[in-house]
Amino acid sequence: MQAYTARAHTNIALLKYWGKANEQLIIPTTSSISLTLDEFYTDTTVVFDQHLNEDAVFLNDAPLTGKGYKKITDFLDIVRQLAGISTKAHVQSTNHVPTAAGLASSASAFSALAGAASKAAGLDLSLADLSRLARRGSGSASRSIYGGFVEWERGTDDTTSVAHPLQEVVDWDIQLLTVIINDQPKKVDSRGGMQHALQTSPFYQNWVDATNAATVDMKTAIENHDFQKIGSLAEQNALQMHATNMTATPPFTYLTDNSWAVIQLAAQLRSKGIEVYATMDAGPNVKLISHISDYHEIVLALQSVLPDVETVAATPGPGLVV
Ligand code: DP6
Repeated sequence: MQAYTARAHTNIALLKYWGKANEQLIIPTTSSISLTLDEFYTDTTVVFDQHLNEDAVFLNDAPLTGKGYKKITDFLDIVRQLAGISTKAHVQSTNHVPTAAGLASSASAFSALAGAASKAAGLDLSLADLSRLARRGSGSASRSIYGGFVEWERGTDDTTSVAHPLQEVVDWDIQLLTVIINDQPKKVDSRGGMQHALQTSPFYQNWVDATNAATVDMKTAIENHDFQKIGSLAEQNALQMHATNMTATPPFTYLTDNSWAVIQLAAQLRSKGIEVYATMDAGPNVKLISHISDYHEIVLALQSVLPDVETVAATPGPGLVV
């Protein structure tokens, strides 16, 4: 069978996905809204080969084993079932993520794998079907099928839980500056962390209600290129998501003192008229939503708080290419 290669970019959620209503199908408790980024992406090549007795998976040229391998073979099983084949596959995946950025995300990985594996299995899926398929690997991957601003609609089943583009070409001034905070490896993965918050935080339902309300406002803000509104809604949503973790039993957090120093710096910069907002995911890095034109001023301010800090700037990126 023929080999296919796909490239998918990662995305950062402005309104987060944090909890599953259905863990098997990966149906979330809320819709989420993201921005696909140009700087971080995954290239994946898949070929189904009848000489193989088991799937062979390589990530950045090293064989993948354990939990990571299992996630990929489970995903390939879904593709094989759709295509009506039983052939094992050879998968070669390369992450293009600046060193230490900690953004080697499952979003670009499963989006690229959905694109390459479905084609290699002889399927010709629509973008919506690719989004549904990518979702089965990792929820956030459903959004990386599209470029620019994307909404993953919560839905209630495999068909209705799917992403669609809100604004594919973003030709206005917005950047995402990742502030690399290396001080702690993440102890709780997002898959475990979100279900723990859902099951034990008394604030979890508040977060769902707030996210639902913010979804309507965020879509209007994106349509109007309303930077301030996008930023403030995103920062509030991220803080509320992290509040569900801090109020879980037992509590946990991904944020460190340095994460907080950057979150507070964003607030200080805003009081000086620089529009910058923070968002954080399942790790200590802080992503600053800002104007490209404020880049130097923000980096200088960061250096005054965290002298050796590393940053990576990204702008809106494209959708899946197979
Ligand atoms: C905090 O998509 O990695 O980045 O579906 O269990 O694979 P699984 O989770 P994943 O979770 C992403 C969580 C987040 C927020 C987001 O991207 O919306």
